[in-house]
Amino acid sequence: MTIKVNQQTQEFHLFNNQVSYIFRVLEKSNQLEHLYYGKRIKHRNSFKHLIEREVRPSCNMFEGDHTSSLEHINQEYPSFGTTDYRYPAHMVTNNIGSQITNYQYQTYRIIPGKPTLSNLPATYVEDNEEAETLEITLVDEVLHSKLILSYTIYANRNVICRNTKFINEGREAFYLTNTMSASVDFPDDQFEMLHLAGAWAREAHVELQRLTKGIQSIYSARGASSHAHNPFLALKRFDTTEHTGEVYGFSLVYSGNFLGQVEVDTYSVTRVMMGINPFQFKWKLNPTKSFQTPECVMVYSNEGLNGMSQTYHDLYRTRLARGFWRDKERPILINNWEATYFNFNEEKILSIAKTAKELGMELFVLDDGWFGERHDDTSSLGDWFENKEKLPNGIQGLSEKMEALGMKFGLWFEPEMVCKDTKLFKEHPDWIIATPNRRPSHGRNQFILDFSREEVVDHIFSLMDHILEKSKISYIKWDMNRYMTEPYSLGLAIDQQGELAHRYILGVYKLYERLIEKYPEILFESCAGGGARFNPGLLYYAPQAWASDDTDAVERLKIQYGTSMVYPLSSIGSHVSAVPNHQVHRITPIDTRANVAYFGTFGYELDITKLSEEEKEKVKEQTLFFKEKRQLIRNGHFYRLLNPFESNDVSWMVVSNDRKEAIVGVYKVLAKPNDKYYRLPLKGLDPDKLYKIAEKETTHYGDELMNIGIILADDYTDRAGEYWSREKAGDFSSTIFLLKEVHE
Ligand code: DGJ
Repeated sequence: MTIKVNQQTQEFHLFNNQVSYIFRVLEKSNQLEHLYYGKRIKHRNSFKHLIEREVRPSCNMFEGDHTSSLEHINQEYPSFGTTDYRYPAHMVTNNIGSQITNYQYQTYRIIPGKPTLSNLPATYVEDNEEAETLEITLVDEVLHSKLILSYTIYANRNVICRNTKFINEGREAFYLTNTMSASVDFPDDQFEMLHLAGAWAREAHVELQRLTKGIQSIYSARGASSHAHNPFLALKRFDTTEHTGEVYGFSLVYSGNFLGQVEVDTYSVTRVMMGINPFQFKWKLNPTKSFQTPECVMVYSNEGLNGMSQTYHDLYRTRLARGFWRDKERPILINNWEATYFNFNEEKILSIAKTAKELGMELFVLDDGWFGERHDDTSSLGDWFENKEKLPNGIQGLSEKMEALGMKFGLWFEPEMVCKDTKLFKEHPDWIIATPNRRPSHGRNQFILDFSREEVVDHIFSLMDHILEKSKISYIKWDMNRYMTEPYSLGLAIDQQGELAHRYILGVYKLYERLIEKYPEILFESCAGGGARFNPGLLYYAPQAWASDDTDAVERLKIQYGTSMVYPLSSIGSHVSAVPNHQVHRITPIDTRANVAYFGTFGYELDITKLSEEEKEKVKEQTLFFKEKRQLIRNGHFYRLLNPFESNDVSWMVVSNDRKEAIVGVYKVLAKPNDKYYRLPLKGLDPDKLYKIAEKETTHYGDELMNIGIILADDYTDRAGEYWSREKAGDFSSTIFLLKEVHE
């Protein structure tokens, strides 16, 4: 990878084998002009020939210069009020009430590797050879402010990471009201926008729409990234498929209110921006202080959506997730939520755990209901001490009994919340997020603690620490079940109320950081009523996330398919649950439930003591199977083959890095009578390797499997008579195919 700077023409070219990114300094105004982002092109001493200027009816920056309208020049980090009328990437209000900025190029520096971001999660390098960072410093002399635009290009990844930092070098405070992490002006609008939309129990549904003139956006103003949108969008060309064609991905390493906005202007220029949502945001930047924006990870792929996804998977699995669990096999867990809800005692828990152990599970997770007087969802959040009626030996005693059974033990917390009936609320009623003189709205009978305040984070840390110190806890499920309302903090000055949502998320990150520092071997799984905070920001702390409260295998096909657009299988929390399913009441075969859940972190969430002997045998086989295959599933390359949003047949597969092994999941939602023949072309195999398909006992070269495919229909050659006695698979059937290299 290289960052080339032509000092004379003031041009910057970041490139590696796969991508190029080019911008320059405008001669007169010293602002930055964007020239190109896309497939790698050869470096040239100058790219001035890419400058496009037309004289159009417009306002121009300089008298007599009819081509100095910023509206008609592709911008690098656009500003408001100086001839560009499109939405800007940043906005400031200063001490005279002006909203104009004019950040002009001052200097640059190139840093080997990738600097960390203070107090914010970000991707990283382990060796400075892995990436290089370009920092551009701009100065607004009226505002007495510096702006640093940061670009990291990885050597062997089609990734450019961006963030910005505002510094106040003057004597007066000013207010930041918009601080995008990245902005790109593309010269045309021939794109479709893909994003992940949803709601509780149906997260991460893939949405695709052709760009139109004007603004299209995804966002959250809920205090969390939300069920409704994921902080990710992609622009794909019309002919881009899963495996071919161009796509640009934008993913924000952030967990709070965000905005991803695409504006197509009247000349068909497409401006993409991503960052903290400016709605509700106003940050007072005092003299000498700086403001750091979150990181936006931009991926360019010319190998289709799947190519983009694989880049995100590898980066987020190995250079965003951190710590003890990053590269380790994750335990197969059993969670008691759908097994018991709030209704359990130690005996019940231990009986599930004992059976779980016998069936091959490795970690027991005690979900909601173990503390205070929590018998339903109306009480006790914040009273983080065990309910002795349910658990006479406390969490400590239970965790010891778990260890004695040979099971690891995990515990559910919802650290950011409080219920009215608790000691915590009684002692600190002013710690909730609420606006004075206005009624606080309810969500699941609970309030949000004001994590923008240090003393609140400290207090919750000490409550959790008290439990963790004395017990043997190897896993924490960190839940978050309501959005923010009446946002206001008694800990912030009147003119700083617009800082609350961002400070809140910084408080959440701080608590994670403190817990990880003290308990580095605890595996965290983040959760927010399912997938409302499935985002890259939290993957930095919790390498896995509960993808959805919907555990139905058929619904999960869509949810996991959508989630896989950005997130690696090693992060996707997926469980086998009971039938009829608790969310949609559907009855699916236990094989299919496992065949879907294998493509994630894998676990169980049902009362396994109630399974029949036959089902228990199946579960035993499943846990054994997953233990054999989990390395391949977490480390291999994931390929989406058949799309559940478009078809009754769904398929995906994982190929090992050495391409010697692969696992293919094939799912048929509804059974069909007298159906057509099916061939399923595979991906990512070595065309010259000979593979044995375990389930078929047949061997095939990779080229055949990728170009012709696996023949999916049953083969009745020479046994046509058996047709009448065959077992019909029925609705929701599935098959797993295992491929292994063999030698003739
Ligand atoms: C919502 C989570 O998504 C569920 O898995 C469960 O932990 C409940 N909260 C508990 O209240």
